[in-house]
Amino acid sequence: MKENTKIEDKSFRGLNLQLKQWGSEDPLQDVVRKALQKPRIFKDRRVMRSDYIPGNLPHRSEHIRRLGEILSPSLRLSRASNVFIYGKTGTGKTAVVKYVFNRFREAAELEGLPLQFTYINCRIAGTEYRVLAELCESIGVKVPFTGLSKAEVFNRFRSSLREKNTILITCLDEIDILVKNYGDNLLYELTRVNESFDTGGLNIVGVSNDLHFKELLDPRVLSSLSEEELVFHPYTAPELVDILMERATIAFYPGTVPEEVVKLCAALAAQEHGDARRAIDLLRVAAEIAERSGAHIVEEKHVRLAQNMIERGRIFEALSTLPLHSKLVLTTLYLLARNDIHNLTSGPLYETYREICSLLGIEPLSDRRVSTLISELDMLGVLKSEVVSLGRYGRTRRITIMTPLDEVQQVIESDELLKSLLNYKPIVKDKYSL
Ligand SMILES: Nc1ncnc2c1ncn2[C@@H]1O[C@H](COP(=O)(O)OP(=O)(O)OP(=O)(O)O)[C@@H](O)[C@H]1O
Ligand SMILES: [Mg+2]
Repeated sequence: MKENTKIEDKSFRGLNLQLKQWGSEDPLQDVVRKALQKPRIFKDRRVMRSDYIPGNLPHRSEHIRRLGEILSPSLRLSRASNVFIYGKTGTGKTAVVKYVFNRFREAAELEGLPLQFTYINCRIAGTEYRVLAELCESIGVKVPFTGLSKAEVFNRFRSSLREKNTILITCLDEIDILVKNYGDNLLYELTRVNESFDTGGLNIVGVSNDLHFKELLDPRVLSSLSEEELVFHPYTAPELVDILMERATIAFYPGTVPEEVVKLCAALAAQEHGDARRAIDLLRVAAEIAERSGAHIVEEKHVRLAQNMIERGRIFEALSTLPLHSKLVLTTLYLLARNDIHNLTSGPLYETYREICSLLGIEPLSDRRVSTLISELDMLGVLKSEVVSLGRYGRTRRITIMTPLDEVQQVIESDELLKSLLNYKPIVKDKYSL
């Protein structure tokens, strides 16, 4: 501790000297001084990052043990069952698989067993080719970034696996993304790799947070993939408190994060579905806000601010990744609402949408397609679309934007194409309002 103080004293002396040399006019002087002199809350920032794998996973011992048992035949060099793991986001699926793989890898290395463990995130890998290439690389087979056919890469993988006579245990995380984009052919082929093997082979641990994913699989693929199944339930608020407490002790200086703050983060995350990632993010962002504002302790207000920030970030992320025409429909609604035209009917919405498309030189979609996009946006909670009766004039759809306008504005501002529309005033007619 003494050592630490000395180092800090020395660094501040150096800093003061340097800041004098910068001159009082330097716009960065204040920023740098604040950044370095602020009371510190974080002892080890890494621990609060989502890719950090804790040495201990509270409330998942049972899952760790089950997965270990299922994979244990591999330590006797017999092929274990394939496992399919599913559960909602943030329930510890990836953390548990990585934990078990790390322990098994250590044991295999100690015993000198011909066992390999590889973790592939299918969303990050992106394509079937990349998944196959990563499988190859995990057994030491180099594959060019492009240029080979999938069949060729697959053959290289299979023959090398046979030649090396090794057991490869692979986790295909977010496996649903692969199947949604490419179908289940690759999985089918992978689950059959072992048929021609006497010893060695491939063992798959499939992971998904899409509970309906199984419906997309051919029954043959499903039965080989889920020889065993593990379900991860959402954490309860008290379980999240334990998880957060464990991390907080390593991540923060003593006394900087009171128990009430941890409990609040846990309770807020549990309100949705007991997502540990959300709880950890909330605590990390709250601590960052507190630190930036110069506070010594994280308080409830910092958690509330963090929640707001995260929520806004999520909305931004969801809206900015919408397909172009959905964004155009949203922009249309935004421009109309900014001009005090709320509660509009579908006819005038289509009209303004077409107007905007022509301004941007984009071919508009048919009214029917736009109507489908409106229903999709309704399902996402971005807008509300309801059928209303116009008395003797029949029925129509009333569409109301539900997302705060300043949040939609941020999305439009961040889009190179759409931002030119921000100051556009649609031609307003009486008939727009209902
Ligand atoms: N029991 C636990 N103890 C400590 N940390 C945990 C625990 N469960 C999850 N975490 C942490 O919460 C975060 C989310 O967990 P993880 O990535 O394993 O979720 P997931 O179920 O794979 O979610 P997704 O379906 O979104 O991929 C990670 O930072 C992980 O380290
Ligand atoms: Mg995961």
